[in-house]
Amino acid sequence: MGARATIIFHALFLTSLQLLLTRHVSSAAGGKWNLLLPNVGIAAMHMQLLRNDRVVMFDRTNFGPSNISLPNGNCRDSPNDIVTKLDCTAHSIEYDVASNTVRPLTVQSNTWCSSGSVRPDGVLVQTGGDRDGELKARTFSPCNNNRCDWVEFSNGLATRRWYASNHILPDGKQIVVGGQGKFNYEFYPKTTSQNVVALPFLAETNDRGEENNLYPYVFLNTDGNLFIFANNRAILLDYVKNTVVKTFPAIPGGDPRSYPRTGSAVLLPLKNLEAVKIEAELRKMPRARVMGDMTLLPNGDVLIINGGGSGSAAWELGREPVLVPDLYQPENPVNSRFESLNPTTIPRMYHSTAILLRDGRVLVGGSNPHAFYNFTGVLFPTELSLEAFSPVYLEPEFANLRPKIMSPKSPSRIKYRTSLKLQFKVTGEVKSPVKVTMVFPSFTTHSFSMNQRLLVLDNVKFTRKGKSMTYEVQVRTPRSANIAPPGYYMIFVVNQNIPSEGVWVRLQ
Ligand SMILES: *[C@@H]1O[C@H](CO)[C@@H](O)[C@H](O)[C@H]1NC(C)=O
Ligand SMILES: *[C@@H]1O[C@H](CO)[C@@H](O)[C@H](O)[C@H]1NC(C)=O
Repeated sequence: MGARATIIFHALFLTSLQLLLTRHVSSAAGGKWNLLLPNVGIAAMHMQLLRNDRVVMFDRTNFGPSNISLPNGNCRDSPNDIVTKLDCTAHSIEYDVASNTVRPLTVQSNTWCSSGSVRPDGVLVQTGGDRDGELKARTFSPCNNNRCDWVEFSNGLATRRWYASNHILPDGKQIVVGGQGKFNYEFYPKTTSQNVVALPFLAETNDRGEENNLYPYVFLNTDGNLFIFANNRAILLDYVKNTVVKTFPAIPGGDPRSYPRTGSAVLLPLKNLEAVKIEAELRKMPRARVMGDMTLLPNGDVLIINGGGSGSAAWELGREPVLVPDLYQPENPVNSRFESLNPTTIPRMYHSTAILLRDGRVLVGGSNPHAFYNFTGVLFPTELSLEAFSPVYLEPEFANLRPKIMSPKSPSRIKYRTSLKLQFKVTGEVKSPVKVTMVFPSFTTHSFSMNQRLLVLDNVKFTRKGKSMTYEVQVRTPRSANIAPPGYYMIFVVNQNIPSEGVWVRLQ
């Protein structure tokens, strides 16, 4: 099978709707929805899973009181707030997966429509936002004692960034690309005194002055260049020399996929990395979806979830909530890659999010198409709930196929270019080859999961250890930081498409 690093894009493919819907009704359905918490106090517009299985979420700070108080009875002066000038509520929270609880965090400046990445040491770095937040960088160091909170840095950025995309780089720094009115990129931490590099591609994709290129889809290609998609076009950028190495043909039809005509993009599983090339694959989705999220599952399938069937991103413009997630199975034959799953009951429109958890569930939150917290008198009320979608692989009927990783323990350190042994137990049948995957947890907002990346590690050796239902698989760790930037990954063993719980490993 040819190796590949494939990007697939969402779009509004109305014509195929009927046909694929009918075909999938019979084979249909899978997965379960659970309402985790009816009210976490904020609309989870941005989400990031950290190495201690806690998820940092935030919305914006200048649109009135949320439904969760700041810690210790604190209040903030909020001169730019359109509703209140003194705000005693939190606009960021930490969700603890294990206890299913949240605690409020303190963010002072405006994080609205911002971006971020987790550093190799596991610290979340978030950049930009609006107004008093537009030049800020903020860090959040994970802790287990509930004492950690945001630290904010003025002038962390060299220029204002609102609706930019970040990516972690092989050297552990991050690149911040674009944003409203910004046809350039920069690095965080800053690399030079000037630190801002022009990127004419972003001016060219800013069609007729319409901003169809916000939140560009940025991926680190395995050759170390960046694949950048904006509007309806893509380039391969050597960000070190600031040269465009390759210009890809525009998507047929020409419709923009970037914000606000928001589609989504995902890098399909990286495997057989000897000869990677970029292919554009155009596939029709089972139904129209705008503002969806694409989440890589531990077995390499892609969950397409959230969003609406018509309209666009931005205030009040989305319609026809799509309650049904679709699964894209890249390993299946071309005509059977999509499967429609069980629906939720909660519309997740503009400003909704989805991320993978280490236990294989997908955490779903947010949705707020309004310029305020509006719970009544609107088409889609501001949504404060958190749900989990459990893909079909979590059904009890697959318990006997599910691997349980015994070693390495979570968390462990691993190195590049070495062999790694994983021991695991399975009570039922194991079919070799088992698959070992590594997932980099993404910073998710506005239908794009920055840094989302799944590697399928090359299998070297598989052994059954005596009669004890214990097995060992030996794999090769990634060859270079271009293939897998340094940092914390979740590693999974997958038996017959059923993934284990993940184990945190720090690749360095
Ligand atoms: C959250 O909303 C509930 C129900 O409207 C209200 O009783 C409560 O006081 C609110 N809490 C905060 C901190 O706003
Ligand atoms: C939304 O909330 C804002 C601020 O509380 C309020 O002024 C506005 O009237 C609300 N909109 C609707 C449609 O209720």
